[in-house]
Amino acid sequence: MTTHIVALGGSVLRPEGDNAASETWFGKLRQLVVHIEGNGRRMGIVVGGGSPAREGIILARNSFTDRYRLDNVGIAATRLNATILQQSLLDIGCDVCPIIPKSTDEAAELLTEHHIVIMGGTKPGHTTDAVAVALARDSGASHCVIATNVSHVYDSDPNKNENAKPFDIMTLGELSKLTGDTALEPGGSAAVDPIAVNWAIESCINLAIIDGRDLKILEDAIEGRPFVGTLVKVE
Ligand code: UTP
Repeated sequence: MTTHIVALGGSVLRPEGDNAASETWFGKLRQLVVHIEGNGRRMGIVVGGGSPAREGIILARNSFTDRYRLDNVGIAATRLNATILQQSLLDIGCDVCPIIPKSTDEAAELLTEHHIVIMGGTKPGHTTDAVAVALARDSGASHCVIATNVSHVYDSDPNKNENAKPFDIMTLGELSKLTGDTALEPGGSAAVDPIAVNWAIESCINLAIIDGRDLKILEDAIEGRPFVGTLVKVE
């Protein structure tokens, strides 16, 4: 049975402002999940922290700077967002696991019992991108879709360099050269978490980096159709 793994960036699920657009997006996401479950497939969704994680970490930094503790604040926000999505899918009768797993091996096990498993972060030291790659590894999926709020991986920061060039396809080795191998700061952001890239290399997981604000693109990437974004192949 096919299992799809998606990292759903918190910045996509919990964007700043524009509630109407957010509501429409949420409705379409629920339709997509219903469609996948209806075809008898399984899906693990790892939800990011978005604005609650950023706000929580900024607030907490006023009191302490320990990285481990700040990461735990971020993890709590990812689990809040995961619960929102989980409850909204349970509400429309989807076969969603009623537990938010705390590890990827627990989530992989639960994916054998439910069509849909939703989780957030696991341990300090990485982001939910890395959790999604670990879940792909543990559930035997060869691909992981990383749905974020940029259209592609670029050769430099498109916010700082107007000539930044997007990649349609690249290897994990090339992506690793761009991201480096230093873990992000708590609440820090990058197109893809360097730890996720390392784990994808270790476990031979192909990645698709896409703009999750457009659910047609997410659907294309999940269905294995050509998609707008960056395909990152093992080699
Ligand atoms: P996110 O996974 O949301 O970071 O984790 P992100 O992908 O950069 O941001 P979005 O999802 O696009 O908005 C938020 C923070 O939570 C902690 C880290 O501090 C991270 O920066 N975290 C998350 C962990 O420590 N471990 C985890 O497994 C997940």
